[in-house]
Amino acid sequence: MWLFSKKGPSGFSSSSTAEEVTQGIDGTGLTAIVTGASGGIGAETSRVFALRGVHVIMGVRNMVAGVKVKEAIVKDNPAAKVDVMELDLGSMASVKKFASEYKSTGLALNILINNAGVLDSPSKLSQDNIELMFATNHIGHFLLTNLLLDTMKETAQRSNVEGRIIIVSSLGHRYSYPEGIRFDKINERSGSCGPFDYNQSKLANVLHANELARRLKVLRKISTNISWYYILYF
Ligand SMILES: NC(=O)c1ccc[n+]([C@@H]2O[C@H](COP(=O)([O-])OP(=O)(O)OC[C@H]3O[C@@H](n4cnc5c(N)ncnc54)[C@H](OP(=O)(O)O)[C@@H]3O)[C@@H](O)[C@H]2O)c1
Repeated sequence: MWLFSKKGPSGFSSSSTAEEVTQGIDGTGLTAIVTGASGGIGAETSRVFALRGVHVIMGVRNMVAGVKVKEAIVKDNPAAKVDVMELDLGSMASVKKFASEYKSTGLALNILINNAGVLDSPSKLSQDNIELMFATNHIGHFLLTNLLLDTMKETAQRSNVEGRIIIVSSLGHRYSYPEGIRFDKINERSGSCGPFDYNQSKLANVLHANELARRLKVLRKISTNISWYYILYF
């Protein structure tokens, strides 16, 4: 279909594969966290990063599924450096635990891929009593990013390699509620207008990325080694 094959300024299109996009790139020496790596886009991102030599830390809530993905990656690529760590983005306690354990490993962090996402129609609240899609897709990633930002800055300064944060949103962000994000009604589900709730969480992803880019560009002017930020959305 034309829409998927139209190339952008990068020379790639929506139908380009991760292998095509990373062809010729050597990621040896880089470390990346990929959230929601137990399936879908996160699993494929982890596989291709590992193929390019990146040390991948898969952040997953389902450890059994995560370990299976890791085993499949290593089976095809025995040199792959892949670790699996437990991370439930729908729980702030789990996000804090993950960040704390990650820091205690002493690993560097060059790339953070905030990919995990849930599109869930029945009304549910997270462990922290926040509407589940908003909690998982935005709040959990917002907290994770904040908790890992210093590690990313230290890595960038030490290695002289700019870091990257990728926040995976959706074209759906354009179709949120008319007022954008309903901060005062975040736990009130829209019933028949179900996609609005997913879309507002994806709008929050875009706003988060834009604001990070704005703040970190300022920092970047002060110190050349501070990471800057990038958004990818489908
Ligand atoms: N595929 C598309 O066409 C499309 C279009 C627009 C945007 N996106 C965005 O792309 C991202 C990836 O989507 P996908 O298509 O790969 O979806 P997917 O196949 O459903 O995979 C989602 C991943 O997120 C994980 N996840 C869900 N809730 C989590 C939580 N609370 N904590 C940790 N991990 C959690 C899932 O883990 P479990 O195995 O534990 O469930 C799974 O590994 C999402 O942010 C989505 O909104 C996708």
